[in-house]
Amino acid sequence: MVLSLNDAALSLDGAAGRVDILHGITLDIAERQTVGLVGPSGSGKSSLLMLMGGLERATGGTVEALGRDLTALDEDALARFRRDHMGVVFQSFHLIPTMTALENVATPLELAGKRDAFDRAAEELDAVGLGHRKGHYPAQMSGGEQQRVALARAAAPRPDILLADEPTGNLDQSTGEQIMDLLFGLRDRHGATLVLVTHSMDLANRCDRTIRLVDGRLESEAVREAAE
Ligand SMILES: Nc1ncnc2c1ncn2[C@@H]1O[C@H](COP(=O)(O)OP(=O)(O)OP(=O)(O)O)[C@@H](O)[C@H]1O
Ligand SMILES: [Mg+2]
Repeated sequence: MVLSLNDAALSLDGAAGRVDILHGITLDIAERQTVGLVGPSGSGKSSLLMLMGGLERATGGTVEALGRDLTALDEDALARFRRDHMGVVFQSFHLIPTMTALENVATPLELAGKRDAFDRAAEELDAVGLGHRKGHYPAQMSGGEQQRVALARAAAPRPDILLADEPTGNLDQSTGEQIMDLLFGLRDRHGATLVLVTHSMDLANRCDRTIRLVDGRLESEAVREAAE
């Protein structure tokens, strides 16, 4: 399994006390599977993505990615694991404000030791339709443009696992379809496993599986027969 969660739970201590966010999540995701994660606002979709990406540590149960128990890795090992195997697109993009679009996309490639980081970053931006925005800073771009830069950045290192939070949420229909093609191309051409949080039925319907969260628990799952 590429991702394997066993009775995973997440509780966070906030100013208002302890909040239980995810409960008893048991879930296996196989190589090259595409999973649509759906559910109401506040149901825990982003939190579950953070657990899978090793960006939040489970407070109960286990989370394994590519056979490694993420709950047992220290911060450095976890950071290396993410760099080498995972791409994450956050709901709020998390672009570095002082870097141009090109620099944002090139940075993880440089960190991964790629000599042609800037050439590849330029190609990735062309692929998301932002060839004309390479020198722009995040504050000079629309929400949908920033989202596409974040996607290009996550996809550029060809991660084994791509986790994306609402990757088409701010995009018009045709740009959204272009981004979906790019995401599924990562699976088709590079064998990536995709977990996509989405409110879009179009995107959910293209996935092999749809998983629904309600109040921090898995509610139901639809498995598409075509994927079997
Ligand atoms: N750092 C935090 N501290 C305390 N509670 C949090 C924290 N982050 C999230 N929560 C709570 O956890 C619950 C799940 O949040 P999460 O962001 O995972 O939901 P979501 O399904 O992604 O929602 P949306 O569709 O609105 O993005 C919410 O009730 C939220 O208020
Ligand atoms: Mg969310």
